[in-house]
Amino acid sequence: MNFLLTEDQELFRRTVREFAAREIAPVAAEHDEAETYPAENVRKMGELGLMGLTVPTEYGGAGAGAIEYALAMEEVARACAAHSVVLTVNVSLVCEPIYKFGTDEQRERFLPRLTRADIVGSYCLSEPRSGSDARNMETRAERDGDHYILNGTKNWITNGGVAGLYLVYAATDPHGGRIGAFLIEADRPGLRAGAKERKLGIRASSTTQVFLEDCRVPVENRLGEEGDGFKIAMTTLDGGRIGIAAQALGIAQAAFDAAVAYAKEREAFGHRIADFQGLQWMMADMATRIDCARLLTYRAAQLKDRGLPFSKEAAMAKLYASETAMWVTTKAVQIHGGYGYSREYDVQRYFRDAKITEIYEGTSEIQRMVIARHILRD
Ligand code: CAA
Repeated sequence: MNFLLTEDQELFRRTVREFAAREIAPVAAEHDEAETYPAENVRKMGELGLMGLTVPTEYGGAGAGAIEYALAMEEVARACAAHSVVLTVNVSLVCEPIYKFGTDEQRERFLPRLTRADIVGSYCLSEPRSGSDARNMETRAERDGDHYILNGTKNWITNGGVAGLYLVYAATDPHGGRIGAFLIEADRPGLRAGAKERKLGIRASSTTQVFLEDCRVPVENRLGEEGDGFKIAMTTLDGGRIGIAAQALGIAQAAFDAAVAYAKEREAFGHRIADFQGLQWMMADMATRIDCARLLTYRAAQLKDRGLPFSKEAAMAKLYASETAMWVTTKAVQIHGGYGYSREYDVQRYFRDAKITEIYEGTSEIQRMVIARHILRD
């Protein structure tokens, strides 16, 4: 296993880092405070090729691998986690399943617009009464000739209200046993996004409910076969979890960098606070945990790139990186003392943003369940 990035990967990381420092970091606090969606920067991420990073070039993507994707996610999240969730949902949760499970016609119809960020995608699995227990959904897709009629409510939908395309999961039999996946354009009658949720963190991203009210969707918009939906949802989340691990890593890295800079500059009892062993041990533990999270994330990405099974490793990376982000950001606030609690400083934003990485794309408890099932099955 190679622990070092190639020269091209280093160059790619530097390019994304410079882009994020120039375009994203300066507006991150403002978007967070005002809870406004960064449409202009999403367009710029599209121009840079990030919004279709892992999609083959014939469909307008950059044809990059999972390692590059993890690098991009980390760098964007380091500047602003809310920007990075728009990116990860578009790339991992919408473009990738369309490429993997879609027909040529579906790929041609949707991918070029998603990769250019002419539209962004949205992934609709969770519901008011089913989050972790995703299979237990109540949304129904009833077959009516060459259409399906969808009814139900989806919850906590990232990019809700701003997306041009919604990938919606719905049960196709009355008992909910078979699940289908449907590509639904935002302007299709019967699909409606609710009000923007008021969240603790990633406040610049748009999260809404999505209502399906007798929404008629042609059969050619179904992704995969009728009963394939749950497997499509789960395989898609395996890849998505690498993205969230990298997002958590970016948040942790940003908090760590801020804490170290502050510790070197702030004085107490006649010394820089960085000179106190208590803080040094804290910083050493922060750096070590961040590196562990990074290695787990790269391992999962490398397995994915090589076409090997990576479900357990993605769950491990997501679990460890998200808990690291929460732990590191808590310490970073502590190192900043009272200033860490002030909204004038970015470190409180990292702390608020970190929490969601332990919740979405499968809570830490679900990651442990996935890992344990693999251990007991292997
Ligand atoms: N890949 C392929 N197939 C899979 C799979 C995977 N990773 N995981 C499960 N499956 C298959 C199983 O093999 C099984 O197939 P068969 O019926 O042929 O045997 C089928 O799916 C059902 O699997 P399980 O019995 O394991 O299903 P379960 O009901 O026990 O649930 C779970 C498994 C892992 C708990 C799953 O429900 C889960 O991941 N829950 C969390 C959901 C989640 O992550 N939601 C996030 C919402 S999206 C989001 O957050 C996006 C955002 O906005 C950022």
